[in-house]
Amino acid sequence: MSPADFAPREPRRRSVLGSGLAGLGAAIVAVLGASTGHAEQTAALNRLAARKGLRYGTTISAAQITHDPDFVALVLQQAGLVVPENDMKWQDMNRGAPGDDDYGPADTVAGFAVEGGLALRGHNLLWYYRTPHWFLTLPDRASKQRAVVDRIKALAGRYRGIIHSWDVVNEPIEPKDGRPDGLRKAVFLEALGPEYLDLAYHTTRETDPKARLVVNEYDVELDTPEHEARRTVLLNLLQRMQRTGTPVDAVGIQAHLTAVGGPPFSPTRLRRFLADLAGLGLTIQITELDVTDAHAPADIAVRDQLIADTYRRFLDVALDEPAVKMVVTWGLSDRHSWIVRGETNEVNWRKDGLPSRPLPFDADLKPTPAFAAIADAFANAPARTPG
Ligand code: XIL
Repeated sequence: MSPADFAPREPRRRSVLGSGLAGLGAAIVAVLGASTGHAEQTAALNRLAARKGLRYGTTISAAQITHDPDFVALVLQQAGLVVPENDMKWQDMNRGAPGDDDYGPADTVAGFAVEGGLALRGHNLLWYYRTPHWFLTLPDRASKQRAVVDRIKALAGRYRGIIHSWDVVNEPIEPKDGRPDGLRKAVFLEALGPEYLDLAYHTTRETDPKARLVVNEYDVELDTPEHEARRTVLLNLLQRMQRTGTPVDAVGIQAHLTAVGGPPFSPTRLRRFLADLAGLGLTIQITELDVTDAHAPADIAVRDQLIADTYRRFLDVALDEPAVKMVVTWGLSDRHSWIVRGETNEVNWRKDGLPSRPLPFDADLKPTPAFAAIADAFANAPARTPG
């Protein structure tokens, strides 16, 4: 497939929105109407955030949009932005052959965001961990390069103009892999060399010039030698990208946190890292915030307080940095969390079999102490210019 094979962009974009709206139809309109009353009474997280120039968002999925109207109402009440948890990942979309991608679920999420007046994060264009298996079997470098460019042009082109930020490359670093530049020795690096980053960011910029381009990473916020090494490598990568003219606008800090038994947290170190990133002229997004409670006591009141304290400690420091413009929790309710579904590392599973409580609303969509902690952190944050 060459770029010329793509349909003209404007008609395609209209058809995406058209099908999204038609597919969702009256359900969303009903939900929007129903949610207005609640929004008046509840301190919606995004409204608290917006007063300080921040945006608050959550993951969502096409399946949740179609099957869980109560959850959808809560999202519309609380969030100003959504991100598809899995529906835009290459391997999740691909049916097993080059170019054979299913855009249905991604269209549903995009249509929902547009119809609901929510900003949309694109997650993600390239992630070593969710790349179709056939990619590795492509015969040569040129065809691998073409597959990467085609993927970016197709996905970023389809949603051009409606994406707030793209995670162009997700998780590009791994100092443990031993390369002097600290880049992860995974599929794209092995296929194309470190230049794959330049190719990906340039192609995305050309395809959707208005979207903010993000490097999204994990394990860069805590006080361990590993996190420190990852911070150094990430800063170096961003500086190198800027020096060589690779377009990048923002850094995504995933921030999957641990309530009990995790690595130590140092306000000073996180503060300094955020200031270093801000010093590069980049904005900062907290992109995947949640708190695992695997090693917290069973008692729900005690557990919830430990989880809430973990949110508060982190957000108080993060929001003190005016370059931080966005906070996204990796889910809104424990009803739909990768931690509760057991899709995290086993170390994050509770041994007593009790369901985890990682998010601001519990599985019955009731606010937890984590909700209050996040709301307070937003209310106490210094104001900033939105970004
Ligand atoms: C996770 C999803 O939440 C799971 O449902 C899926 O099984 C695996 O991916 N870092 C990321 C996210 O950037 O895309 C991951 O999401 C969580 C870790």
